[in-house]
Amino acid sequence: MKIFIPKEINNENRVAATPDSVKKFISMGHDVTIEPSAGSRSNFDDNMYKEVGASISDGSSSADIILKVGKPLSSEVAKYKDGSMLIAMLDPYNNRELIDELRIKNITTFAMEWMPRITRAQSMDVLSSQSNLSGYKAVIEASSNFNKAMPMMMTAAGTIAPAKVMVFGAGVAGLQAIATAKRLGAVVSATDVRLAAKEQVESLGGKFVIVESDELKDAETAGGYAKEMSEDFKKQQAELIASTLSNQDIAICTALIPGKKAPTLITEANVKSMKPGSVIMDLAAQSGGNCELSKPGETVVVNGVSIIGATDFASDISQDASSLYSKNLLNFMSILFDSETNDLNIDWEDEIIVNTALTKDGAFIHKEFI
Ligand code: NAI
Repeated sequence: MKIFIPKEINNENRVAATPDSVKKFISMGHDVTIEPSAGSRSNFDDNMYKEVGASISDGSSSADIILKVGKPLSSEVAKYKDGSMLIAMLDPYNNRELIDELRIKNITTFAMEWMPRITRAQSMDVLSSQSNLSGYKAVIEASSNFNKAMPMMMTAAGTIAPAKVMVFGAGVAGLQAIATAKRLGAVVSATDVRLAAKEQVESLGGKFVIVESDELKDAETAGGYAKEMSEDFKKQQAELIASTLSNQDIAICTALIPGKKAPTLITEANVKSMKPGSVIMDLAAQSGGNCELSKPGETVVVNGVSIIGATDFASDISQDASSLYSKNLLNFMSILFDSETNDLNIDWEDEIIVNTALTKDGAFIHKEFI
C-alpha cells in the first residue's frame, strides 16, 4: 500500500508519522511518502525520514492511505484518489460537510477521536495520548502566566504560601493537570460529575470537591463519559463553585461532554470573586468554554484575572505529541491488515472499526451519520 503523510495546515505543529513509525510501516511492506518538511515543526527533518526508506514528495493523488493529524481542507480532499483511505482526527460532529465530501469521493474515512474507550483500544486512543500532554502543558502555561510561585517557600525573608489550583473535570487532561500541579508544589482540588473520578483525584493527592446528589449515580455513560446534568444539579454545582473558587489562584478547566457544548462552570461573577493575578486556563475554550468569558486562542483580563482560551496545547509539545499520536495510528493500522500476509483485511464488525469508520464505498456507515 502507498501511505502518504501530508504536512499539516494552519498552526498545527504535529505530524502523523515519525521516522520510527515510518520505519515500521516500511517493514510491514508499505511504501511511504512524506510531504516535504511535514515533520519539521516536530523536529523530524526530511533526511530522518529518507534514512528509514521514505520518499519525500507530494503523494496525495497516488496514495492508498493518507495519515493526518487534523482534518484536510476541501482542496486537499480534491487531490485524494477515489477509493483511498483517510485516517485522522476529523472532529466529525463539527465537520459534517467535509465528511460528506469524503463520502462522495468514495474515500474510506476513520475518525480517530471516536476510538471506543475499551482496553483493547487503549494503545490507539488519541484523545488520551493528546489530552494527557495538554493537561501537563496547561499547568506549565498557567504557572508561567501567574506572577507568584507555585510551591511553598520558606526563606529568611519570609514564607511564601503555596498556590491553590482547582481543576474542573478529572478526565485524562484533568488528572495530568492535578499530577503536574502537585509536582510543582501547589495545593490542588478538583471537581467532576463522575464519582469514579474521586478515587483517582485522591490517589494523586488532590482534594475532591463534588455536589452531593443522587443524580451522580447516573452521571456516567456506558462509555465512561459524562452526561449533561439537570438544571437543579447545575444550580447546586454553581453554588459549590462560587464558595470554593474565590480562594483559588489558578483554575484549570477541562470539563467536556462529547458531542455537546462544554458545561459552563465559571461565571463572570465567579471570575470577579477571584483575586487579581489569578489565572483561568480554559482547555474547553474551543468547545464553548467552561468559563463564560473564555475566547478560544485569546487571553481576556477581567479585574486582573487572566482567562486563557487554550486551543492547541498538544500541538505546542509537538515532538512528544507526534510520537504518541503516530504510535496510536501505527497500532490502529495494525488491526486493518492481516498480520501474516500484510494484506488489507478490515473486520467491519470489530467494535473499534464500527466506532471509528465514518464512510465506506460512497456511503455513511457510522450510526451518528446514518
Ligand atoms: P472528557 O474529555 O470527555 O471530559 C473531561 C472530564 O470532564 C470528564 O472526567 C468528565 O466527567 C468531566 N465533566 C463533564 N461535565 C462536567 C461537569 N459538569 N462538571 C465537572 N466535570 C465534568 O473525558 P476524558 O478525559 O476523555 O475521559 C472520559 C472517561 O474515559 C474517563 O472516565 C477516563 O478515565 C476514561 N478513559 C478510558 C480509557 C480506556 O479505558 N481505554 C481511555 C481514556 C479515558
